[in-house]
Amino acid sequence: MAISITSSSSVIVLVVMIMCCEVLCSPNPQCDPDYPDEGPPIYERDVELLQFAENLEHLEADYFLWGAFGYGLDKFAPDLVGGGPPPIGAQRANLDNQTQSIIGEFGLQEVGHLRALKSTVGGFPRPLLDLSKSNFAKIMDSAFGRKLDPPFDPYANSINYLLASYVVPYVGLNGYKGSNRFIRGYVSKDLLSGLLGVEAGQDAVIRHHLYERGEQLVHPYNITVTEFTNRISELRNNLGMCGIKDEGVFVPPELGAEMRTSSNVLSADRNSLSYPRTPKEILRIVYGTGNESVPGGFFPRGANGKIALQYLKHQD
Ligand SMILES: [Fe+2]
Repeated sequence: MAISITSSSSVIVLVVMIMCCEVLCSPNPQCDPDYPDEGPPIYERDVELLQFAENLEHLEADYFLWGAFGYGLDKFAPDLVGGGPPPIGAQRANLDNQTQSIIGEFGLQEVGHLRALKSTVGGFPRPLLDLSKSNFAKIMDSAFGRKLDPPFDPYANSINYLLASYVVPYVGLNGYKGSNRFIRGYVSKDLLSGLLGVEAGQDAVIRHHLYERGEQLVHPYNITVTEFTNRISELRNNLGMCGIKDEGVFVPPELGAEMRTSSNVLSADRNSLSYPRTPKEILRIVYGTGNESVPGGFFPRGANGKIALQYLKHQD
């Protein structure tokens, strides 16, 4: 009897599951994506701009995947590497459990971003990336205008890793915001807005962690987390050469929302809108040279794709 009750319960559960699946899984015309009737889905300029973004997505993917898991895109999605060289100096970071989960999630999100980009607009092999300790140390030295002693190690602990992460998705978000006005195709717009949403979310999560720890001293430098964010933002503003488009987690009130708060958990302009950056500005920053024609920093041989290569050609 017990067996027959169990069996009939199982049958009922199965029938309910099938019914649910029929409702949820079958195509529902009411939920079809709504696209405009006219115009190409993707324009040529869209392709160039979205391919340019692949450089930053590659940087994020390998930085986050390696930091969280100790291996990168070559293992998670070798098809997206396209035969590009392995990153220099990438390694697993010494992260607490929560940070490891978050960074692992970010890394896996980047795999999706690259897949979506490359399957929509094509792409190129992963550019050579420098994710070494010494490269991050150089960035921090530039941010402070002096050599930190010992050299900054992004992989040493969670707070260092998050400070180094502060360097990364924000620039991607600026780039998507900057590209938005030139992107015309409805499929391209769809992709860009989806990428921008998650990129902004990643930046917000990183900033919030740093904001909460703003007063904490970064060992052994006796410098607060807030000061690190201010210096990194200042460095990016200097390299970008286009005024203030980057702000630390606490700012003078005149830079805060409605000029009324020093709290600056999100970086935004006077109307609290995200700052845009052009590909030129982004290259100046990620190359660390302040010059879109002189590679360096995260891209020792330069970024890839038509836009970046055009600037590289102008190198003397
Ligand atoms: Fe991304």
